[in-house]
Amino acid sequence: MSQDGEMTKKKFLDSAYELDSAEKTRDFYKEWAQTYDQEITDNGYASPVRTAQALVSCGAQLDRPLLDIGCGTGISGVFLKQSGFKELHGSDFSTDMLALAKGKDLYSRLHHADLNNPFDFVEEQYQTVTAIGVMAPGHAGPQLIESVLTLTATGGLFGFSMNDHTLDDPGYLSEIDRLVKSRKMRIRWSEYGDHLPQIGLNSIIMVIEKLG
Ligand SMILES: C[S@@+](CC[C@H](N)C(=O)[O-])C[C@H]1O[C@@H](n2cnc3c(N)ncnc32)[C@H](O)[C@@H]1O
Repeated sequence: MSQDGEMTKKKFLDSAYELDSAEKTRDFYKEWAQTYDQEITDNGYASPVRTAQALVSCGAQLDRPLLDIGCGTGISGVFLKQSGFKELHGSDFSTDMLALAKGKDLYSRLHHADLNNPFDFVEEQYQTVTAIGVMAPGHAGPQLIESVLTLTATGGLFGFSMNDHTLDDPGYLSEIDRLVKSRKMRIRWSEYGDHLPQIGLNSIIMVIEKLG
């Protein structure tokens, strides 16, 4: 207890960037789930609103379902809904994070799924897919981009964030370069700006379009 009687809450943000296996990541989010929204909001989490606005600026189809991969507790869904997306589907491999997303009542479908496995739950191709705060060491590797292209309709958009820790690994940008050069996709939006401004962490928000 602190002097004013408030229980000192454990902080997780710093250790989020030290995860190096899917197992550790799942355990980590199990512990963090209940305080995630508060801690991340206190630090000015900006990537969800930046991604949502970038997608709208690129002409995303707001009336068609959007798949939010790694939706977590649904903070990303809050900003996607506010930006006009009418129907959200979500997926995550943490049941604790998903339970909180369910409570927000933003997603019409929620799937318990590991993004490193095939996306078997996907029944039809999406016009819009997002992965916000998900492309990161210990979370999703660069290979996620090509697997998302298999879920995305031709001309559809994939919006995602890559924070400074992600960008320290050259594998993400070189995979993007490879997929652009092989004409599987083109970049519609790329902007560097705030991710968690209270800890001085930035991110690139990128929107790519799947080519036929
Ligand atoms: C930083 S949180 C972002 C959550 C949400 N998109 C947001 O913006 O608040 C990362 C999420 O990715 C999920 N995640 C990490 N690795 C995953 C994996 N291999 N399969 C599915 N979800 C994963 C975690 O469970 C967590 O909910």
